[in-house]
Amino acid sequence: MAIIKCKNVFKDYKVGHIVVHALKDINVEFKKGEFSAIVGPSGSGKSTLLNIIGCLDKATKGEVILNDIPIKDQDKNVLADIRRDHLGFVFQTFNLIPVLTAFENVNFVLSLKKDSSAEENRKKTLKILEEVGLKGLENRRPLDLSGGQQQRVAIARALVKEPALVLADEPTANLDSHTGSEIMQLMKDLNKKKSITFIFSTHDKMVMEHARRIINLRDGMIKNGKGGK
Ligand SMILES: Nc1ncnc2c1ncn2[C@@H]1O[C@H](COP(=O)(O)OP(=O)(O)OP(=O)(O)O)[C@@H](O)[C@H]1O
Ligand SMILES: [Mg+2]
Repeated sequence: MAIIKCKNVFKDYKVGHIVVHALKDINVEFKKGEFSAIVGPSGSGKSTLLNIIGCLDKATKGEVILNDIPIKDQDKNVLADIRRDHLGFVFQTFNLIPVLTAFENVNFVLSLKKDSSAEENRKKTLKILEEVGLKGLENRRPLDLSGGQQQRVAIARALVKEPALVLADEPTANLDSHTGSEIMQLMKDLNKKKSITFIFSTHDKMVMEHARRIINLRDGMIKNGKGGK
């Protein structure tokens, strides 16, 4: 079953009088359990496509269907609920809250959903932090963690709600190659174990090697990549 379908998706940005055609007629589907990378040069539209798939931005034209829900017709609050309930995000710059500890950065995501008790949330948070290899570091703030450890916190934050789909925009770009490789292996293990769907964007050859499918973007359009449709 497709978790995401993009049908004839276009995205234009207006900058003053100039229109930038960031995506031009994108047609792509992602199935449940995929581990895929969107690759292409700087400016080819990778982040734009991920943001549209992640309901952080809207297509100018075309349809995006997430879990059979057409995104276009939903209002802001519904989109926020969809993001909260179905999606996890991992960013290039980790985007952790600096004044919160690793535990608190992950736990606060669960507190946004009122369907479990504080004690249940605490247990879930400790479990996922352990799964990403941060046992014993729960009370550190981001600045007292290495880049790789910060990205592990961000992955734990994205996964703690057990989302159907995790979107990661250049997740290894700020990591050295060894740490980047560990982070990819961690995500791959979580993909297998929990059958969570992952879509990355990347410039990184190592990330491409980990991906089971590659979607090549050039100038806002999809060119052929590795793996089936
Ligand atoms: N908010 C915006 N306003 C105007 N133009 C934008 C905006 N965001 C992106 N663009 C333009 O859209 C095109 C695609 O940008 P995008 O950020 O998706 O590329 P990318 O493939 O993620 O690049 P990078 O590898 O550098 O992150 C570029 O030409 C960019 O300048
Ligand atoms: Mg980008």
